[in-house]
Amino acid sequence: MCIHSVLRAFLSALVFAAFAFAWGSFPQKDSSVSRDVPVTISFYRDVLPVLQRHCQSCHRPGEIGPMPLLTFEQSRAFAHSIASSVGKREMPPWFADPSVGKFSNDPSLTQREIDTLIAWANAGAPAGNPEDATPARNWPQGWMIPQPDVVVRMPRPVELPSKGDIDYTYEIVPTGFTEGKWVQMSEIQPSSRANVHHAVVYVRPPDSNWLRHAPIGMPFTGADMTDDQDRQDTHFTTADILLVYAPGSSPDSWPDGSAKFVPAGSDLVFQMHYMAQDHATSDQSSIGIIFAKHPPRQRVLTLQLTNDRFVIPPGVDDYRAEVHGSLPNDAVLLNFFPHMHLRGKRFDYNILHADGSVEPLLRVHYDFYWQLSYRLAEPRPLPAGTVLQAVALYDNSKNNRHNPDPDAAVRWGDQTYDEMMVGFFDVAVRADLDKPHYFIRSGDTPAQQK
Ligand code: HEC
Repeated sequence: MCIHSVLRAFLSALVFAAFAFAWGSFPQKDSSVSRDVPVTISFYRDVLPVLQRHCQSCHRPGEIGPMPLLTFEQSRAFAHSIASSVGKREMPPWFADPSVGKFSNDPSLTQREIDTLIAWANAGAPAGNPEDATPARNWPQGWMIPQPDVVVRMPRPVELPSKGDIDYTYEIVPTGFTEGKWVQMSEIQPSSRANVHHAVVYVRPPDSNWLRHAPIGMPFTGADMTDDQDRQDTHFTTADILLVYAPGSSPDSWPDGSAKFVPAGSDLVFQMHYMAQDHATSDQSSIGIIFAKHPPRQRVLTLQLTNDRFVIPPGVDDYRAEVHGSLPNDAVLLNFFPHMHLRGKRFDYNILHADGSVEPLLRVHYDFYWQLSYRLAEPRPLPAGTVLQAVALYDNSKNNRHNPDPDAAVRWGDQTYDEMMVGFFDVAVRADLDKPHYFIRSGDTPAQQK
């Protein structure tokens, strides 16, 4: 059975219906100031530690935050917009509904931290005593992971304009690995962090046809592709993902005994989403890799739930697309990464139980400009036969401020004015299973397994 038909079989249970789906607004905690906030509030003692822990990863020079929040002077000018952005839970960016699931990379402030920032702004942004200040945080200049065993760098820098949208940019880099390698940790290091909105590094094994006519070692976009298949390939693939980067994200470090696998002779494919930042510049990103010290018991695979057969009618603000499939073999669920385009509004992952009950795992209030991964605080064992579901909601009305055309009927397509529905998820499976073998059900006859 070829991999494609196995994937199709897994992904083919498509149910989609447009109906008004009732859902509550994002639960807002009470933003009034609670009693445990100190009576006299001080920037140096109370506010600075919160900014260091939750904000400076992006709000410092060279990062994507629009202003630095390192000093009292820098922060005072923004006291009210800081209070309002944290009160509405717009900052730090995080889109998982807090009532569903727990995630180890959740950067959200506690209610007490929110109250502190609001109370500080309301008190007129007092400085307090500089001697109370916690030491300035030392931001890593080099790698956050230990010294990598291998650094794979994009061979050519990508020239970035000062203004305008930049199409997803790709660069394919041969690894030169002469044997398969187990990856325990990896970290993407942009050279121009302020311009990198997000990055995905894919593994392209030597037998893959993905982007087969695309250049090696040179930046390109979908528009540069003369071959139709290659052009479509710049927006969709079933290739395994090695790592996703977004500003403030931490490097990957797989739990002991599990690792990602890069087959001998693979290429790494960098997919870069750049932002213009008022001056022309260039970026040449790298990925640092640390190999597993011992062969792991489990291999981490990135799988996906995809529905490409929807039509979103013009003007509809709650169009629902769904897909579900049963897992062919045991797996341990680690991580989610939902992907839609500009009309994406919400993305849910659920388990559908045999008794008809629905167990929600993640609910994302989706924003195309913040594609994040959501790592389960507790990995979740999924026995063979577990039915995993993804549900996407789209807002094709004029009230969606990102909507490029509320009068269009929207289908699957590679441009951002088309739509997608892909629910990526990472699972740990037996180490001897690659993706095709994972999809062979133990009940399948030997003939099917060929
Ligand atoms: C992952 C990166 C990231 C983190 C972490 C982050 N921010 Fe931001 N912040 C941004 C970006 C990018 C923008 C501008 C675009 C936007 O608003 O989405 C922004 C915008 C803002 C604005 C609006 C600025 C204006 O022009 O009025 C405020 C205020 C702000 N952030 C405060 C904070 C505070 C306070 C924290 C920590 C509690 C924080 N941010 C954490 C990336 C970040």
